[in-house]
Amino acid sequence: MTSTGSADERLNAFIGDLTAKGFLPDPADIWAKALRAVPRHAFVPARAWTASGPIDRDERPDEWWDAVYSDTPIITQADDGASDPTTGRGEPTSSLSALSGVLYNFGHLDLDQGHRVLEIGTGTGYSAALTTQIIGEGGAVVSVEIDAELTAVAEKNLAAALPGLKPAPTLIVGDGTGGYPTDAPYDRVHATCSVQSIPSAWLTQTRPGGRIVTPYGRWFGYGLVAQVDVLPDGTGVGRFPGTSGYMPLRSQRPADDHPAEWDAPGARVTRTVVNPRTIAYAPASADLVITHLAPGIAARRADDSLWLLDGHDPGCWAIAVSAEHEDVFEVRQHGDRDLWDEVADAYFRWQSLGRPVLDRLGLTVNEDGERLWLDRPENVIV
Ligand SMILES: C[S@@+](CC[C@H](N)C(=O)[O-])C[C@H]1O[C@@H](n2cnc3c(N)ncnc32)[C@H](O)[C@@H]1O
Repeated sequence: MTSTGSADERLNAFIGDLTAKGFLPDPADIWAKALRAVPRHAFVPARAWTASGPIDRDERPDEWWDAVYSDTPIITQADDGASDPTTGRGEPTSSLSALSGVLYNFGHLDLDQGHRVLEIGTGTGYSAALTTQIIGEGGAVVSVEIDAELTAVAEKNLAAALPGLKPAPTLIVGDGTGGYPTDAPYDRVHATCSVQSIPSAWLTQTRPGGRIVTPYGRWFGYGLVAQVDVLPDGTGVGRFPGTSGYMPLRSQRPADDHPAEWDAPGARVTRTVVNPRTIAYAPASADLVITHLAPGIAARRADDSLWLLDGHDPGCWAIAVSAEHEDVFEVRQHGDRDLWDEVADAYFRWQSLGRPVLDRLGLTVNEDGERLWLDRPENVIV
């Protein structure tokens, strides 16, 4: 969407667009009111990066305003602050996420008046501000951000955008993996960065009957959304209502310095009749089964090859090449694990389960870790 006019006109046009596309959670009128109450432009830095390139409020104001009031992610930090995000280089490490995706996750969170909410990933402070509008003065938001500089900016953003805001979000600098026990229990835990597995602290800090909603991505494939309800005994039981692409929790990033090369000495060379593309472009439900059966593996997909990297061990990798018009494909595996073999076995386990779609898979989480199941919690896959 592009439009011209005052901030209010742009905001209203944007909300109209999101409403028409069905992106607003229920009740839509309450969410429209919340979106109207929080001036999104007050949370966007003067210079940032979008999918269309850099934006600069002072030099090219129209472009900047168009980006602020359109459904695009706005990258506000790269390489944990070590690189300039406006160059487009470096790994994005904080952003104002695309609003439709944010609203999708909020929809699954099912916020209500008076809720106490733990947010992980304050970023610009925008989603914390939105949360306050739904839970009202009787509720509370605690937002944990690992980066102190981002927290300081979020604090300024909130004060400038919504002076006297009640409830004012409590901003905490720290590793959100541990939640924030001081103000627990919470009715809701809302993560805005993705996890490999649900941290146990989030479970113990959620009230029975409460809910955790988090981007869930185990490096290998699609990013998902996990929605987990907490039972009276503290066990979490959940589903994966959809897909989402979020940056990972800082402590759960895969190792990135793999010396994986086709000609690397010491690689074991094998052949397979399984076309690597079959696994590289499998559905999200297959990826989910693979990540639980063959954990800790990151995948990089190229046109003609699938690269598998052990996220914990840079010396461990596999490359499988899918040459055109061939029936047999070469695989090179290096390190302590045979990553291709593990991933291929896991893919065929998913096939043997009848190629279940994502809706049929669920998750149980407790102090022993996570169990992935098919159709009902008793039917454990792994
Ligand atoms: C997509 S951004 C969050 C956007 C934010 N909710 C907003 O409205 O602007 C993800 C944030 O998670 C933060 N983050 C990453 N790892 C974290 C951790 N272990 N604990 C707390 N925050 C973390 C990042 O620094 C980043 O700011």
